[in-house]
Amino acid sequence: MDSIVVTGGSELRGEIPIAGAKNACLTLMPATILSDEPLTLTNAPRLSDIKTMTQLLESLGAEAASMQDGQVLTMSSHNLDNHVADYDIVRKMRASNLVLGPMLARLGHAVVSLPGGCAIGARPMDLHIHGLEKLGAEIELKDGYLHAKAPRGLKGAEIELAFASVGATENILMASTLAKGTTVIRNAAREPEIVDLADCLRKMGAQIEGDGTSEIVIQGVDRLHGATHPVVTDRIELGTYMLAPAIAGGEVECLGGKISLVESFCEKLDAAGIHVEETERGLKVARRNGRVSAVDVTTEPFPGFPTDLQAQMMAMLCTAEGTSTLHETIFENRFMHAPELMRMGANIEVHGGTATVHGVEKLKGAPVMATDLRASVSLILAGLAAEGETVVSRVYHLDRGYEKVVRKLSSIGAKVERVKE
Ligand code: UD1
Repeated sequence: MDSIVVTGGSELRGEIPIAGAKNACLTLMPATILSDEPLTLTNAPRLSDIKTMTQLLESLGAEAASMQDGQVLTMSSHNLDNHVADYDIVRKMRASNLVLGPMLARLGHAVVSLPGGCAIGARPMDLHIHGLEKLGAEIELKDGYLHAKAPRGLKGAEIELAFASVGATENILMASTLAKGTTVIRNAAREPEIVDLADCLRKMGAQIEGDGTSEIVIQGVDRLHGATHPVVTDRIELGTYMLAPAIAGGEVECLGGKISLVESFCEKLDAAGIHVEETERGLKVARRNGRVSAVDVTTEPFPGFPTDLQAQMMAMLCTAEGTSTLHETIFENRFMHAPELMRMGANIEVHGGTATVHGVEKLKGAPVMATDLRASVSLILAGLAAEGETVVSRVYHLDRGYEKVVRKLSSIGAKVERVKE
């Protein structure tokens, strides 16, 4: 297993290109199931999660090809000949459950393994199931698999989500594009990845309005056709690299970034004393004077502060002047990075869903362990300004969500290397 060794203390300067969004790509790829014509995605990120989704689609009979070093993906679901999404693939990645809605809509039946628990919380699928049942699906849980069928086809319905779940909104949205009649999704998730999915589905011939708001209205059509679609910029990768100069000092331009993708996050950076400017090429971030100030953060569905940036934000707040509180409202067990940051000298108390971070002047490098995707990158960020060497082990989590992280950080002057253990 590889580790990443970070030697802290260098100011960061330069530019970092931000990739296409992992979470958008993971929902755009299953959309290919809805049509028998090819779907081409450009600006795809090169990540192990994307390979896992490719494997899953191939296991269902889809064909996939990648070009331009993986940045262009073409998938065709002309010959879907398997309707079982196997546990061996699904357990690797929760987003595998996004094949359920499209398979039901296109084939009329699907058997999809439940993804199981995950390090950051239970993550059930009740909202996905409720929505698809409203569309006329019959779903049963047997031997760890969801057995879903729609013997009379899917029919438009009014669906109110008890929580604005991203995955449930995506599954229901995809399924309803081919349902008979009108579907209304109330309390829908408003994330940019949902808007990107709706944009792509519209290119494929779907009739969708209201994406980006809490009410999405879909008029079902008989069939969808092929399309080419560029994946939206990864707002979580963007926020992560914006924190690098905020933590280590210096000035970095994140190419492709836009304030609209990270507005609530930028408000917190501003309150902490970080300068963010939108340029023609992206977002320029600078920390000019002294320590950052403490801020309070509550994670919320979009447009609120993203849970996927909470760990990285905590890394910055460890050395802020004053005491910050972080309330995690989306996942119940998402502070596993806190004890690791404490190994580096951070002063953090965790009580349930709230972490209180008393800022210290400096962190000290230490051996630490990555526990999940966003936690691993938060430890690297913390290491950028720590005294001495931080060795982050179990970095395979990183490959799921950050492409070329060592190269990108080195290019702005960070001392980072990947070593074999
Ligand atoms: C997506 C993102 C993930 C991000 C999360 C929240 C992808 C591939 N992943 O995950 O990176 O952290 O949004 O922004 O896009 N829930 C239920 N029942 C359900 C579905 C969800 O109780 O049927 C709960 C979950 O347990 C969790 C919360 O709702 O506590 C948020 O989940 P959801 O918005 O569905 O996140 P994902 O789509 O899994």
